[in-house]
Amino acid sequence: MKTTNQDRDYVLGTHDDEISRLALQHRVWRPRALDAWRRAGFTAGQTLLDVGCGPGYASIDLAEIVGPTGRIVAIDRSRRFLDALEAIRLRHGLDNIVTHELDLDEASLPNLGADGAWCRWVFAFVKRPRDLLARVSEALKRGGVLVFHEYFDYSTWRLAPRLPEMEEFVSVVMKSWRASGGEPDIGLDLPRWLEELGFEIKVLRPIIDIVPAPNFVWQWPKAFLHTGLRRLVDLGHLTSDRALAISHAFAASEAAPHTLMITPAVLEVIAVRR
Ligand SMILES: C[S@@+](CC[C@H](N)C(=O)[O-])C[C@H]1O[C@@H](n2cnc3c(N)ncnc32)[C@H](O)[C@@H]1O
Repeated sequence: MKTTNQDRDYVLGTHDDEISRLALQHRVWRPRALDAWRRAGFTAGQTLLDVGCGPGYASIDLAEIVGPTGRIVAIDRSRRFLDALEAIRLRHGLDNIVTHELDLDEASLPNLGADGAWCRWVFAFVKRPRDLLARVSEALKRGGVLVFHEYFDYSTWRLAPRLPEMEEFVSVVMKSWRASGGEPDIGLDLPRWLEELGFEIKVLRPIIDIVPAPNFVWQWPKAFLHTGLRRLVDLGHLTSDRALAISHAFAASEAAPHTLMITPAVLEVIAVRR
């Protein structure tokens, strides 16, 4: 797929490598998403929003859960991501996914009276996250359930033994998100805003892993490091020499015995609209 001028890019990009990375990320996170959705009561026949769906790997799983009598409304501003979702949807023979190409910073959401919404790694990237939360709330019926997986402490991402190059990378990533109007640790704000908007918070759960290189979870941050370094060079946040030095240092740590990866800390929130 070619990136077109019409595509509305964001800080991580919408290129083919990023689509593959998001697929891998979903494979690693899928068991936790399925578990959260089950605890949130997502089930057959419901209408659910996938807010900032990307290429829609979660939308496909959600469509299988709500089944033919339910509906997934998948929203993103990237045409490329929505086209990728459409291609996967056709492969799965699913006709219960509706996509909306819109900017979550600007547009009002479809007025759905939805039973629930899934928001993963999108509030960290929008410019006015509290406004977006208010608009997502309005798209839900009373009793509708919101489920979030968003970072609340990105800087927990490091290696043990510590690797300064890795910590440099993490700090440049956080700076680049903030420079484009986002907030990596947005999970710190969500519970307060949800209370203010009249939600009852049912679950607040930190999710963090500490894994050695052979563990499948390792592949998720590793993939982000590789696409992330290229993206940070393209955006002018890192020189290619620094990116190469970080990449080599990471490879040496990965090959060394006993290295552990501590993942960036995610907050799971499940909240019900009163
Ligand atoms: C890290 S990806 C996560 C995708 C998906 N939620 C997942 O978990 O695989 C962030 C997504 O947010 C979308 N996004 C960022 N800013 C947006 C905005 N202002 N309006 C709509 N979508 C936006 C991007 O296009 C991208 O698809």
